[in-house]
Amino acid sequence: MTANPRFQAPRGTHDVLPQHAARWQWIEEAFRATCRRAGFGEIRTPTFEDTEVFARGVGDTTDIVTKQMYTFEDRGGRSVTLRAEGTAPVLRALIQHGALGAGGGVHKVFYLTPIFRYERPQAGRLREHHQGGIEIVGAPGPEADAEVIGVGIAYLAAVGITDAELRLNSIGDAVCRTAYRDLLRAYLKPKFDELCPDCQVRFERNPLRIFDCKVPHCRELIAGAPAMVDHLCADCRAHFDGVQAALRARGIAFTLDPGIVRGLDYYTRTTFEVTHGALGAQDALLGGGRYDGLAELLGGPPTPGVGFGCGLERVLLVTEKLGVQPPAAALDAYVAAASAAAAAQVGPLAYRLRSEGLAADFDPLGRSLKAQMKEAARRNAAFAIILGDDELAAGEATLRDLTTGHQGRVAVDRLAATLLSWRKSPPQPA
Ligand code: HAM
Repeated sequence: MTANPRFQAPRGTHDVLPQHAARWQWIEEAFRATCRRAGFGEIRTPTFEDTEVFARGVGDTTDIVTKQMYTFEDRGGRSVTLRAEGTAPVLRALIQHGALGAGGGVHKVFYLTPIFRYERPQAGRLREHHQGGIEIVGAPGPEADAEVIGVGIAYLAAVGITDAELRLNSIGDAVCRTAYRDLLRAYLKPKFDELCPDCQVRFERNPLRIFDCKVPHCRELIAGAPAMVDHLCADCRAHFDGVQAALRARGIAFTLDPGIVRGLDYYTRTTFEVTHGALGAQDALLGGGRYDGLAELLGGPPTPGVGFGCGLERVLLVTEKLGVQPPAAALDAYVAAASAAAAAQVGPLAYRLRSEGLAADFDPLGRSLKAQMKEAARRNAAFAIILGDDELAAGEATLRDLTTGHQGRVAVDRLAATLLSWRKSPPQPA
């Protein structure tokens, strides 16, 4: 390691070296597998977009748009922005490809992508982070909200996180939120001078965002405020009740939290976050909600949508704190040599077994049989295949099931097929 390298990765970014890559691959692969099982297809959009996609989509009073975007003019004089979040680009793409509108149906998509935000780096807050996200576009009912949340919970469980907390809220729609904003302003007006400077600006622009403030005194001031959920219009109330019923039907526990207002402007009705105590101040593992007006804001036909983004660095952090180990890469067979003559044959046999579809390995150091068997156990191999002089002479090998201990001599030509059939219905030792 160089003590004072001339160059370092930019502040708020990180390298993933090979010793950490396995963990990354595990949490990414689990995300893909969970999404695929639930019928989501992958979508990939460019790393940068026309700046307007975010400015319009996310909202030009939000922190993301006013303070955090990596925006620059390209050589053609166009303003472009590195992906500041995942949802607006997905909607831009679906609109561009004519997927929305009459007969457009329901789209279930997922993405795994870097996100760029110029934030003050701290534990769990980066300038380049990675999100696994999903969106259901075209489904207006509460079942879609519960489906999205269910995929998030199932994903976290798949990587061993079962003690996260789901916080649920509804921020209403254009109809009821306008009236509620006035109510909130009336409540906060006598306390205006006590609000922090940021919240005084929020008071004018979007007082709901004061719920998001981390300044302790602002939190105290807002704690007694009327809650949006108590002022929903009839349609929003019915939707919110529907989401809760659909979550209960899935056995998913949640807490109602009027503080979940989210930092992006496109949300309507349902908002949610899943938090974890091991994370500290930046405690959201994932966040999302419904955005029924976003497609129109981006020039498309009115189309409902709901989704979440999950911070993968935070998932990684929690799995490490919980001591969850990625499953060891499963080895079907460890090919071991019991004699000097056989030592030259284990490599070729592993090579052949791989071509027959098995994950197989051998000891390239030619160590003792005992050392090789220890290695087979360490690598979690399901079977050992042992070659000795007798076996070599007969064109056979000893196949040993390392779980049951059952073993037998098998012709080399039949090794792969026999291993698979033993795996399917394990013969018991006599
Ligand atoms: P978001 O809440 O801005 O939502 O980000 C989603 C998740 O990404 C957060 O809960 C957190 O885990 C992670 N995250 C956000 N910023 C950072 C950061 N600076 N460093 C590390 N992790 C971070 C969205 O981006 C929405 N597009 C989610 C969504 C999808 N809503 C509907 N569909």
